[in-house]
Amino acid sequence: MNKGKITQRVFHAHSTEVLLDEEQQGLAFKQGKSTEARSGKTAFIETYGCQMNFSDTEIIASVLTDIGYDFTQDESQADLVLLNTCSIRENAEAKIWNRLHSLKAIKKARPGTLIGLMGCMAERLKSNLLSRDQLVDIVVGPDAYRSLPELISEAEGGMKSVNVLLSREETYADISPVRLSSNGVTSFVTIMRGCDNMCSFCVVPFTRGRERSRDPETILHEMRQLAENGYREVTLLGQNVDSYRHEGVNFAGLLTRAAAIDPLMRIRFSTSHPKDITDDVLEAIAMHNNICKQIHLPVQSGSSRVLELMRRGYDREWYMKKVSRIREIIPDCSISTDIIAGFCTETEKDHKETLEMIEWAKYSQAFMFCYSERPGTLAERQYEDDIPLAVKKERLNQIIAIQRNVQSAVMEGMKGSHQKVLVEGDSKRSSEEFCGRTDGNMMTVFPKAPGMMPGDYVDVRIAEAGAITLRGEAISPAERIMEIPE
Ligand code: 5AD
Ligand code: SF4
Repeated sequence: MNKGKITQRVFHAHSTEVLLDEEQQGLAFKQGKSTEARSGKTAFIETYGCQMNFSDTEIIASVLTDIGYDFTQDESQADLVLLNTCSIRENAEAKIWNRLHSLKAIKKARPGTLIGLMGCMAERLKSNLLSRDQLVDIVVGPDAYRSLPELISEAEGGMKSVNVLLSREETYADISPVRLSSNGVTSFVTIMRGCDNMCSFCVVPFTRGRERSRDPETILHEMRQLAENGYREVTLLGQNVDSYRHEGVNFAGLLTRAAAIDPLMRIRFSTSHPKDITDDVLEAIAMHNNICKQIHLPVQSGSSRVLELMRRGYDREWYMKKVSRIREIIPDCSISTDIIAGFCTETEKDHKETLEMIEWAKYSQAFMFCYSERPGTLAERQYEDDIPLAVKKERLNQIIAIQRNVQSAVMEGMKGSHQKVLVEGDSKRSSEEFCGRTDGNMMTVFPKAPGMMPGDYVDVRIAEAGAITLRGEAISPAERIMEIPE
């Protein structure tokens, strides 16, 4: 049986393509467990979109492993080609249509190859996908991954197969994800699924369904296993982690229990909703050295009028108070954000308020987009998408320019400081250098020293600040696991 391999081509929701190479992936696949039904068959999976999708791909890989699939990085050799898709903006879907087009040649060369679409686009377009693209054999929504074995059997029998049922309960709590892109150091753990917020621009409530939280015992169990396997960082994932609640355990309670698993295990989480993050959560972060002082707090717009139209549930002042509260309880907290340029009716004045917000909040990082109207959303039904694309792009460029200045000031301010970096692996440019992240999630590169390994915490003195990367030198001796991160 050939060793499992998989390509993870991650198109981040923030439109940066990250190609994880074989080494980064770690390629630590379990061999097929129970059934040998498809032993000798290979699957190729490509992931688009956000971290949630990426984490879902690990669940899908587990389901496939259980029925004997092996993985290949070469789609032309695969019996099953799966695309885990994203619908957040029109251009995310356009990428997938292009990709499907390019898969035509594969289907022609190997007509038996099955092609499946999974995730948000599968959910949004449902069986319409089959009529729009003859190439697709299988359509599976985000809550239907357990049914993949049956859907594959049907498709092998020549039927087109679809399962896009959304669930109020499914959390895949009992499935052990296969860590596809593992660097052996950092990992994702999904704690909740779906979203009940109904922001007027967002398609996610329609593609991922109602909010539901995963049993904390299964989350903690998964984290313990990761710790036992040498992982040093877990990002707890959910569309809105602050509304996590399972039988009396809220997000602050979950964080506190997670932090107690292993003082050497760093914990991050994403995404927080400004209206839902509580003092209890902030205090849990402040009290535990191993909960990273980093909060992703999407603002979307700096204008109260636009926020109201977006149905975000807070206004400009409320958001600013929340940021101040974070800085009060966790003085050195990194705050990152998401921003949409050119939402319906946005005026120059609204846009200026967004620019001012960026300067005021001093975001350490921001993901910035032009508004893209999504079918079925409240904005699509009730407002006119009236800002011309050229204006949206111009505003986006201004937002990016201001954020770049803010970010470089934040990074310049870190020069000379000592940062605790968790080593993730070789830097992209050189095998003489390691890269890893600071507590505040800044990518940092520094020369290797003898004995240093991925998974070590290293004190790095920051010497240079680039646009998105810090550079420095290790100041602690090259020992394994030097100190608990602060
Ligand atoms: N158009 C542009 N950006 C969007 N986002 C969500 N929906 C849209 C849309 N229709 C952005 C938001 C969100 C991030 C994941 O994607 O900023 O926080
Ligand atoms: Fe993730 Fe789906 Fe949202 Fe895309 S639309 S960012 S895949 S949840």
